[in-house]
Amino acid sequence: MDKKQIKKDIIEAMHFRHATKKFDPNQEISEEDFRFILETGYISPSSFGIEPWRFLVIQSPELREKIKNTSWGAKGKVMDASHFIIFLARTEKDTKYDAEYLLDHYKNIHHFPDEALQGLLPMIENFQKEDFDLLVDDRRMIDWSSKQTYIALANMMTAAAHIGIDSCPIEGFSMKEMNELLREEGLLEDESFSISVMAAFGYRVQDAPEKSRRLFDDIVKFV
Ligand SMILES: Cc1cc2nc3c(=O)[nH]c(=O)nc-3n(C[C@H](O)[C@H](O)[C@H](O)COP(=O)(O)O)c2cc1C
Repeated sequence: MDKKQIKKDIIEAMHFRHATKKFDPNQEISEEDFRFILETGYISPSSFGIEPWRFLVIQSPELREKIKNTSWGAKGKVMDASHFIIFLARTEKDTKYDAEYLLDHYKNIHHFPDEALQGLLPMIENFQKEDFDLLVDDRRMIDWSSKQTYIALANMMTAAAHIGIDSCPIEGFSMKEMNELLREEGLLEDESFSISVMAAFGYRVQDAPEKSRRLFDDIVKFV
């Protein structure tokens, strides 16, 4: 393992990545490459390992058109990008400490024995009630799930950049309007999900602008 080379490659990929404003409508990401990008999101970490997300890969041109007309941030990108993902966050219905989804997840996915569950669930209850004070309203719980989806999003954008694929994260939309659209399309599964964030993937048509960032020492503080 050449650590120096790996670090160089990572930094190069990080600089290559930029919020791509215009995608080449004629260049498609191969199925294998897109599967690789999805895999990095799929195995991403989440708080208590609950995977409170769903990644909707929007292939229907009709639905892309509706997204274009609903989201100002997606407008110039959603029709041309090779792939377009909507990240959904699970709602309180599925993520509250006593939710059926949670129980099923630990029993049938993690195969936790009953004794382990009896230890873990009160911990999650205390975390949600006291530590993070999440049970005040549904929005706080959605935002908690939503935070986890951004980890998957970041991993996917970084992975894409490593193999020369461009991306743009998209928060430019009204949550209410996007949720209405997704509800009409039957994609919120009886309010188990709410929109979190979106992302376009594909290939740039113009050079990336120079990066502008605050000074490193203004951001990083050793204390
Ligand atoms: C969560 C998130 C949401 C964003 N939403 C949009 C968006 O809706 N439309 C857009 O063109 N750029 C969007 N951006 C891109 C940012 O403006 C961009 O990442 C930032 O200006 C830094 O530039 P760079 O990514 O090219 O380095 C978003 C970025 C993040 C992280």
